[in-house]
Amino acid sequence: MAVGILLVGGFGTRLKPLTSESPKPMLPVAGLPVTEHQILAAQKAGIHTLVLATSYLSEVFTPYFGDGSRWGMKILYAVEKAPLGTGGAIRNAAQMLNLENLGDEPIVVFNGDVLSRHSIADQINFHQSKKADATLHLIEVEDARAFGCVPTDSDGRVTAFLEKMDNPITNSINAGCYVFQSSVLNRIPLGEVVSIERETFPALVESGRPVYGYKEQAYWLDVGTPAALFKGSRDLIADDFHAMPGCAIDASATITGKSSLGSNVTIGADVQIDDCIIGDNVTIGDGARLSHCFIFHNTVISAGVSQSRHYLSSAISEPINLP
Ligand code: GDD
Ligand code: MG
Repeated sequence: MAVGILLVGGFGTRLKPLTSESPKPMLPVAGLPVTEHQILAAQKAGIHTLVLATSYLSEVFTPYFGDGSRWGMKILYAVEKAPLGTGGAIRNAAQMLNLENLGDEPIVVFNGDVLSRHSIADQINFHQSKKADATLHLIEVEDARAFGCVPTDSDGRVTAFLEKMDNPITNSINAGCYVFQSSVLNRIPLGEVVSIERETFPALVESGRPVYGYKEQAYWLDVGTPAALFKGSRDLIADDFHAMPGCAIDASATITGKSSLGSNVTIGADVQIDDCIIGDNVTIGDGARLSHCFIFHNTVISAGVSQSRHYLSSAISEPINLP
């Protein structure tokens, strides 16, 4: 058994314009919000209580996830009026978990923009076998510059934490899923802006506390850019496309490129869709052609429209280029 904190309060700046109307973690990937994929993974690992640490567009989360009973867990919400940084957000959310009553029950923290198929349960077991203060999931990437660089010794003990460096000293990076002892979170100052990557982890390692790296090279992706979000959605789809329940697709339409359709999407005659992410309750008129487009929830696309590499939403008058 474990409790969890999901960091979903960032601005998603690199995902603009996709994050103009939705927080990054609520963007759909293969028909479900990124957050929901993570909740399903947390549930599998026996996490019974999860706090969503929200800030930017915080009001979007509660109507969707409610009290969590749909996922068989308790979901709570911690709202930061102004973003507290990753460490400050974790500390703020931990207030809702009654740290003093947790004892040795581990706290699992997730970056809210990561799709990972590693075993959270194995990571917790590893953490407990090492009697660690904190255990980070680590993966190897070709180019570590955009990530936290995390060297370890032969026993898996973390020897440094170097956030985003130009010349990474190892390809082993912080994959954004941590297991903590509650005593560690208690030491983060409350109500202050703190970076877990630039302040808390380096300080823990320097002070000689047991911080470990759990290495599992499972499927892993940070969906923090438009290209990565599209890739994440395609990676989860086995066929030409995936449609959520309630879709009505005309028999003459062609849908390819591992496109994803949210729930209650209506597709007209002779429509061509390739490599698109389409939200819920979208209607696409006859003969429309859409290639590599992101179509926000509740949008109506007129008949005959032809668009490539655009963000489309009923809330905006002109389609916006996708980078
Ligand atoms: N609640 C809250 N408040 N959440 C926040 C805040 C905040 O002030 N700032 C960031 N977050 C959330 C974001 O929404 C995201 O889910 C997560 O924290 C990580 O922030 P990113 O902005 O996506 O960071 P990154 O991708 O540049 O780097 C992080 O992730 C890498 C792995 O994907 C770092 O943890 C790196 O060390 C790591 O390698
Ligand atoms: Mg990220």
